Amino acid sequence: MAATTIDYQSRIPNNVNLSSDRRLQRALENWLPNYIDWWRTMGPEGFQEDQIYLRTAVSVEKTGWAHFDYVKMPDYRWGIFLNPTEAERKIGFGDHMGKNAWDEVPGEYRNALRRIIVTQADTEPASVEQQRLLGKSCPSLYDLRNLFQVNVEEGRHLWAMVYLLHSYFGRDGREEAEELLQRRSGNPDKPRILNVFNEPIEDWLSFYCFAMFTDRDGKFQLGALAESAFTPLAATTRFMLTEEAHHLFVGQTGVERVIRRSCELMNGDNDADLTRQGAVPLDVIQRYINRWYSLSLDLFGSEVSSNGATFFANSLKGRFQEQRRWEDHVALEDSRVLDVVRGGKMGKEEVPLRNAMNEVLRDEYIADCEKALRSWNQTVNGYGLNFSFTLPNRKFHRHQGEYAGSFFTPEGELIDEAKFEAEQDNWIASDEDRAYVKSLMHQVTEPGKFAHWISPPKRGINGNPIEFEYAKFSGHERA
Ligand SMILES: [Fe+2]
Ligand SMILES: [Fe+2]
Repeated sequence: MAATTIDYQSRIPNNVNLSSDRRLQRALENWLPNYIDWWRTMGPEGFQEDQIYLRTAVSVEKTGWAHFDYVKMPDYRWGIFLNPTEAERKIGFGDHMGKNAWDEVPGEYRNALRRIIVTQADTEPASVEQQRLLGKSCPSLYDLRNLFQVNVEEGRHLWAMVYLLHSYFGRDGREEAEELLQRRSGNPDKPRILNVFNEPIEDWLSFYCFAMFTDRDGKFQLGALAESAFTPLAATTRFMLTEEAHHLFVGQTGVERVIRRSCELMNGDNDADLTRQGAVPLDVIQRYINRWYSLSLDLFGSEVSSNGATFFANSLKGRFQEQRRWEDHVALEDSRVLDVVRGGKMGKEEVPLRNAMNEVLRDEYIADCEKALRSWNQTVNGYGLNFSFTLPNRKFHRHQGEYAGSFFTPEGELIDEAKFEAEQDNWIASDEDRAYVKSLMHQVTEPGKFAHWISPPKRGINGNPIEFEYAKFSGHERA
């Protein structure tokens, strides 16, 4: 259905032959100025006129899809890119397994699919809003550029989802597309849909943790949607995944560079006081991890979920890499044992596997996070320090699902609320921790220079040196 090369001649770059569908083209061209308005008011503040070294997709082929150049962010060529899908695509899981995949939305699944798409779509502009002030305190030009790369790509992910809404959901879809530009992260009257996307991101350690843990939820959600029987959704999310990989890289290596710098300054002394050296103590980093990881775990939804079961049964949302990693794609025989809280005590409950699909996806996410933790700990070990980072137990600090409303230690032990209250500042980044980290944030924009609290990366972007001029400023006041 989709071509591999992208038409950049039209107002909306695309590989979906948009010019052949006048009605759709007009609808998206009407949405475009509203989007640009939103970008100018809610996108990165203070850098709209600057030349940023960004990559733009030129092809959806696995090799060589990216083109790097200086661009003013409002001129970024946002557009609609779908990965090609197999000819005669068959449904790979659920009750419709083996039948032909769908190029249109089946009437009976219209509401469910719209809800899935809107929920994903809402996270994209939300994260741009959350991060809009970070440029003012960037630790380097390299980091500034990475932030903006992530931001423009989240903008494009919004385009991807809006294309689906406009193309396949008629009037409802058009209304949803408008509302995506009206909700605002953290606004009490019209907040973004999911909790963590209303949390402020006011310092760069939060940004790296967000890109590491919250964007990583996106990897797994998109990976599950890439299996969908609804082919346009599968094709769209497959291309989004290729962009997402860079966001996760920015997050994982960002945290790693903060850790590296702290370890360096500790100089082999486990008791070194990093607050006197203007760096982030390792236990503060651990509390940031605990906070963003636990908030991100909520995004997978309830441990036991009839919605999750229905989405799977109806072949709307599979498991992560359903085709590659699983053998039984119907999942009617198996079950999953879960920890549950019953009458103030912990117990076990066995549920049919389909009802535990959220938990299955969460398992994959946790395993992926653990890999990053191992590599961070290698960094710490390399400095001869006696410290290791851990992920808190999945029950810790949850606001959704089975464990919400109960209280747990980071090790997963059930405790009462008073105990949690007494300990929480030792476990979760407190106001004081955040104020301290924020106090370290000062803008550094000289090419090749880095803020004191973070190490330089191992290499630059697109084969360029670290001291490359990743952004060129137009000379106006930035701060
Ligand atoms: Fe995204
Ligand atoms: Fe992302």
